[in-house]
Amino acid sequence: MAKIATLTVDGKNFELPLVQGAEGEQAIDISQLRSRTGLITLDPGFANTGSCESGITYMDGEKGILRYRGIPVEQLAGKSTFVETSYLLINGELPTREELTRFSIMLNDHSLVHEDMRTFFEYFPRGAHPMGILSSMVNALRAFYPEIPERGEDEETNMMFTRLLSKVRTMAAMSYKISRGHKVVYPRHDLTYCANFLNMMFDSPVRPYIIDNDLVKALEVFWILHADHEQNCSTAAVRLVGSARVNLYAAIAAGISALWGPLHGGANQAVVEMLQQIHDSGGDPAPFLARARDREDPFRLMGFGHRVYKTYDPRVKIMKKVCGKVLKKMKRHDPLMDVAMRLEEAAVKDPYFKDHNLYPNVDFYSGILLRAIGIPVNMFTVMFAIGRLPGWISQWKEAMDDPHWKLHRPRQVYIGSKVRDYVPMEKRKRPKN
Ligand code: ACO
Repeated sequence: MAKIATLTVDGKNFELPLVQGAEGEQAIDISQLRSRTGLITLDPGFANTGSCESGITYMDGEKGILRYRGIPVEQLAGKSTFVETSYLLINGELPTREELTRFSIMLNDHSLVHEDMRTFFEYFPRGAHPMGILSSMVNALRAFYPEIPERGEDEETNMMFTRLLSKVRTMAAMSYKISRGHKVVYPRHDLTYCANFLNMMFDSPVRPYIIDNDLVKALEVFWILHADHEQNCSTAAVRLVGSARVNLYAAIAAGISALWGPLHGGANQAVVEMLQQIHDSGGDPAPFLARARDREDPFRLMGFGHRVYKTYDPRVKIMKKVCGKVLKKMKRHDPLMDVAMRLEEAAVKDPYFKDHNLYPNVDFYSGILLRAIGIPVNMFTVMFAIGRLPGWISQWKEAMDDPHWKLHRPRQVYIGSKVRDYVPMEKRKRPKN
């Protein structure tokens, strides 16, 4: 028998169906609530609201589980590549050898960016944040690569996915080179997706970049760990903007803007800045923990806490391990790694952090890894964005393919002025302080 929840309003009972997810989680279906009761629900920040049914990513915040299309992220980080994982997310299944080859060839074929787009990059002020630039440039991509209806819907959509995955990576490296006043390095056909990115970032006419397979593997893992995370802020932005049936580029540009925020993807930059601050102040995390506990102080421990995870984010363990490996390989000692480990140790023992279920999230160690690879701090969130692209694309695709999909249009509880008359300018008064 189908399960129901009963809502009682003014003594009257309303039955609401329960929806059961694949892993046993349950939700109350309130889609008929307003038409049947005249009521809406109020859930600021949507902490209790499911916005869709999705078959892409499963997370259990209490147990610290993350799976893409059913496959644990630990297995993908250990065995897959970013390109293969992207295919899995977008298409629902791991590719066969032929499918993967075809996909990789397409990514290579679409890796160049229209030369005229360089002019755009060159006119951004030097201090512009790369996330702002990336968001604008992704919107601009559509103007350079409009849809060709004769190609057929499926082919055109696949082309768009490939263009985004490949060109956003090229544009990110290009913007870095231009920001430094250096010669742009073009993508190479003989390199894999991740190796190509590192080469475009770091190769130069005076010092050829030597590709290190361990760094390539570390980048593969970094991007796999960021590839999707169900209905987080930026993905919700992609779905919401996409629900107006706007083109994919515009929806992804919205996702990039949302990711920029320090409470979301921008945290990876904020973490390294915070660790540097701790280091510069002598390396003792205690005063920073005290500030984080103080309700009067807006300071938060960056890289700690998560809306869904109430235990360790499963990605942290993998990220920390890769960080250690890369630092060892590079024979580099990063003092910020020591600060991070001391801070983690102190925070997880601290009663405030325990009581609030605050544990490190993916951003806590990711910045240290990116630094070790040579990525500058202001590019950290761009790195996250490249990694999240397959997630945004697959979530947008799922939404577009859903026959029940509707325009996203939340409601509100109005708390403003009741109806009142327009006041002519000469009669408007403000109370004097
Ligand atoms: N440091 C100190 N206290 C914190 C922290 C933190 N990092 N995070 C949450 N808290 C406290 C809040 O002060 C609040 O305390 P109170 O109940 O005593 O008032 C309580 O924990 C709940 O906080 P909320 O902000 O309501 O929790 P929410 O689920 O909205 O926050 C968030 C999640 C935004 C990630 C938060 O933990 C945070 O700001 N973390 C730091 C930024 C960060 O690392 N962001 C990256 C997240 S992962 C990602 O997006 C890729």
